[in-house]
Amino acid sequence: MRKNIVAGNWKMNKNLQEGLAFTDALQLALSNHDKINCEVIIGAPFIHLAHISGKINDKKLHVAAQNCADKASGAYTGEVSAEMVASTGAKYVILGHSERRSYYGETDAILKEKVLLALANGLKPIFCIGEVLEEREAGKQEEVVRTQIENALFDLSAEDFGKIILAYEPVWAIGTGKTATPQQAQEMHAFIRKTIAGKYGETVADDTSILYGGSANASNAKELFSNPDVDGGLIGGASLEVEKFMPIIQAF
Ligand code: PGA
Repeated sequence: MRKNIVAGNWKMNKNLQEGLAFTDALQLALSNHDKINCEVIIGAPFIHLAHISGKINDKKLHVAAQNCADKASGAYTGEVSAEMVASTGAKYVILGHSERRSYYGETDAILKEKVLLALANGLKPIFCIGEVLEEREAGKQEEVVRTQIENALFDLSAEDFGKIILAYEPVWAIGTGKTATPQQAQEMHAFIRKTIAGKYGETVADDTSILYGGSANASNAKELFSNPDVDGGLIGGASLEVEKFMPIIQAF
């Protein structure tokens, strides 16, 4: 059975003290609600990971890194390896975010290496895919997303693919306040699941959590999450304040 997941992506926001205060406040809010029906993930900057992991005592709450290196170790100044991320207690790593792809030149080939290293170190990738506006306007969104998945993930064994969480994030919806309609999200998520089924079979496809990301917030989460193929969200802006993040978690 696939999991429902609400994952926050802080991006390059919050210093350590702010991150820790947020974690305390979120745990308090979670403990005040006895019906939390999803797993909750905080996607924090590298340097916060160990500190935040050390504070977490809620079984439903986990920590994710927002990236990891495409090399295992060695002379790569400034890089952080998957092994290092895992050693902080983080269980997840966001990979292939459109900001990494477009600002830092991360290609499918680089991402493929990152996925392999994450898996080899026991981390579950939250793998982001999604088209830019021109691609959607040209009706190419399915082709773009299928290619991103095929190039980075389809050499994995079925067992390893089973550890992947996908996040469909149409680039035109990220940080723009423009959300995909529930119908657009459902259509793409169903297409993604069909693509997975074509490669790994129905059971693996059914068990894969596919999150939606792109200006998801307290007012649209319920409608987005009510779609049969939308298993949660990857939340940027609205994950920065507990008051905005909690209602998204409670949308399940
Ligand atoms: P947003 O970001 O919710 O601020 O649009 C989502 C993301 O980039 O993961």
